[in-house]
Amino acid sequence: MTTASERPAWIGAAAAVAVIVVGETVTGALDTALIASSALALLVGGLLGRGRRPAILPPPASEGPDRPAVAEALLANIPDPVILIDRRAVVLEANPAARRLLPSLKLRHPLSFSLRAPDVLDGIDEVLRTGQSLRTTYVTRVPTERAFEVQIGALPMPDLPGGGAPNVVLFLRDLTEARRLEAMRVDFVANASHELRTPLSALLGFIETLQGPARDDARARERFLGIMRSQAQRMTRLIDDLLSLSRIELREHVAPTKPVDLARIARQMVDMHAPLARERGVALAVETSGGPMPVLGDRDELLRVIENLVENAVKYGGSGGTVAVSLHSVEGAEGRPGRVELRVRDEGPGIAPEHIPRLTERFYRVDVASSRQQGGTGLGLAIVKHVLNRHRGRLTIESELGAGTTVRVSLPEYRPEPAASAAQSE
Ligand SMILES: Nc1ncnc2c1ncn2[C@@H]1O[C@H](COP(=O)(O)OP(=O)(O)OP(=O)(O)O)[C@@H](O)[C@H]1O
Ligand SMILES: [Mg+2]
Repeated sequence: MTTASERPAWIGAAAAVAVIVVGETVTGALDTALIASSALALLVGGLLGRGRRPAILPPPASEGPDRPAVAEALLANIPDPVILIDRRAVVLEANPAARRLLPSLKLRHPLSFSLRAPDVLDGIDEVLRTGQSLRTTYVTRVPTERAFEVQIGALPMPDLPGGGAPNVVLFLRDLTEARRLEAMRVDFVANASHELRTPLSALLGFIETLQGPARDDARARERFLGIMRSQAQRMTRLIDDLLSLSRIELREHVAPTKPVDLARIARQMVDMHAPLARERGVALAVETSGGPMPVLGDRDELLRVIENLVENAVKYGGSGGTVAVSLHSVEGAEGRPGRVELRVRDEGPGIAPEHIPRLTERFYRVDVASSRQQGGTGLGLAIVKHVLNRHRGRLTIESELGAGTTVRVSLPEYRPEPAASAAQSE
């Protein structure tokens, strides 16, 4: 029995043989040998053709995944807003990011109902007119100010008479973060130059005075040299702070791996600040449970953290008369690892709430003159923040005007693996 796929092979072979036989009959050359060989050719041709399977063709387009569904899934996964419109600027498609940005956006409604941005709407007109893609910007002010770069692209689609074909695609890229970083960089350079210029112009002023009017005044020379020395020290300190900030930033993604005892570091820092506290009439004390408080950390960096917090409390909160440093172990909730918390509390004038979120910005000081007078550069808490980021730590500043300030630092507690601790104790 022949199947449907075999039949064409036999038909083909028979047709070929028939053509030869008819041709030979017409020319009178038909003989038995030719008839026998034609029969053999028919048989071989038919059999050879029978074994062949038809070539496997790709499934027709309708059997594959639905093209619009694929496009929709792709759009949904693009984190930036994407909007497709037709030549009347009616919205045909918008991904979830676009809907989040423009909650009033509706399909089959004009884009201008939800996007009130003359630059973008004019841009769409131009793209439709010229067929050339272009870029513009879109700035929203509600709920917060955000800036977007809008790429308006022309799609090579047939221009249906009543609209309805996706003729233009809008792609919005959020520039807010990039602009914020750029502003920070510009501010940083301006602030650093300003901080360096102040002591530098003081130095130049004193040098000129010493070369001129005070040339032969031995007492003035002594006094001026003292001031020049402290101004030069201030510049050195500023440069040291800037360098350590950039070093810490470079290593911010490399978590420390060595265990250190935070309680010991805290006691050491409190001892070091005893002379400053005495000079200012501040009672400085440290309170720990007595045992070690191990954390994974970089000793020098953690010293800088505690140094700055204790120094700030004595310098800016010293008028309250006491500064208390304490350490506690905090149990982790729901099986999470515990933390070590260090608290530095003063009873000074406190900090107004509007300043608190900005204290960790570089060069930010509540009272610039008072901080500068005390030798401060305004980089201390910025360094604290970066060190804590590297140590997976947290910083909280609580303060009330007139009632003092409490700064808390919490770090993941280090618990050695049982095998590691057994090996260590051997
Ligand atoms: N305990 C505190 N009480 C009141 N104000 C504080 C306290 N701690 C910090 N501040 C305010 O926060 C500002 C920023 O502190 P930060 O440590 O970053 O800089 P600084 O102390 O001025 O300079 P540096 O730390 O480089 O010496 C200080 O200038 C001060 O105005
Ligand atoms: Mg400080």
